[in-house]
Amino acid sequence: MTTTDTLPELGSIEPNQHGYRDFSLGKFTFSRDQYFVHVRWPNGTHMLAADAFLRAIQRDVAWGFFYGIVNFDTVIGTVNHYGTVDLFAGRFNAQYRQAGLDYSENFKSDAISRLFEAILADWTNATFDPFASPEETGSAFGPKNGSNKRAITRHRVTAKRMIGAPGDEPVRTDDNGFPINRHFTDVPQDAPEVHPEPGFEHQVVSVNLFAYLSRSDVTWNPSVVSVCKNSLYCPTTEEYILPIIHGNDRVEWFVQLTDEIQWEVEDRDTGAVRARVTMKAGDVAAMPADIRHRGFSPKRSMLLVWENASPELPALYASGKMPPAPVQF
Ligand code: PHB
Ligand code: FE
Repeated sequence: MTTTDTLPELGSIEPNQHGYRDFSLGKFTFSRDQYFVHVRWPNGTHMLAADAFLRAIQRDVAWGFFYGIVNFDTVIGTVNHYGTVDLFAGRFNAQYRQAGLDYSENFKSDAISRLFEAILADWTNATFDPFASPEETGSAFGPKNGSNKRAITRHRVTAKRMIGAPGDEPVRTDDNGFPINRHFTDVPQDAPEVHPEPGFEHQVVSVNLFAYLSRSDVTWNPSVVSVCKNSLYCPTTEEYILPIIHGNDRVEWFVQLTDEIQWEVEDRDTGAVRARVTMKAGDVAAMPADIRHRGFSPKRSMLLVWENASPELPALYASGKMPPAPVQF
């Protein structure tokens, strides 16, 4: 047996009867069957649908564990401490907490990344793309059936200054392999007209953001299209359900650019329901720093997520020095 594609410190080398390897990290173990993922920890067990689990860990690892908390569902998820990550069960679930069934372990971010990458590589079948909408991918289920390395190793766009600027991320076109999505055939593709003053031709850059987004081949995967100090514009195209429930450690602004998304908003720590927010094209919302949210998009829509990446923000909110919402009513 070769050791090239095995990670003995993370999981079994021999597949189970469905063809999938088991994995473990610390006192957590992960296994999958034809429909479900089974997570076990010292005082509990949990089941998640295999497609939903793969969509969630795909986002978590691709986003470097994101801002704050990434709940895969109401039980399992990660907390980002920016260098280390907690893997938890039941920690943000009032009932698990009351019953004393919650459990959490801290790992170096690298270790969890390697675990999730190894799980994705082994458990994603050839027919399934965790970044795609359900209508644009095949089944995640059944016995092990090949792999989909191209889909799970995609890198998202992260501009250094702005997409389309000299030396930065190129603008997407049919020619570089990004056709217009089936739900965005009505989006105008014309390039903006720019008339810079003589001498400033190389400093004025513009792109048609709607045309750019109409060619996104993934869902619920924000790109960073512009960077101004810690202000990041992260637009994305959304269809079906956000694969994670995001518990933020800062305020996050949403600008609904097209169509409609409904958001379920809950208390970040207990999961108690707080609001249902329907955002239509043109609506703007500030998601507070003490909630968690999950979006539902009935047709592919365009959403601008505006992030403040300042590293000092989590401590300011956690200590109460900053109120959890930009406006106090
Ligand atoms: C969020 O959690 O705020 C979020 C994540 C991914 C998206 C959109 C919003 O595509
Ligand atoms: Fe969020």
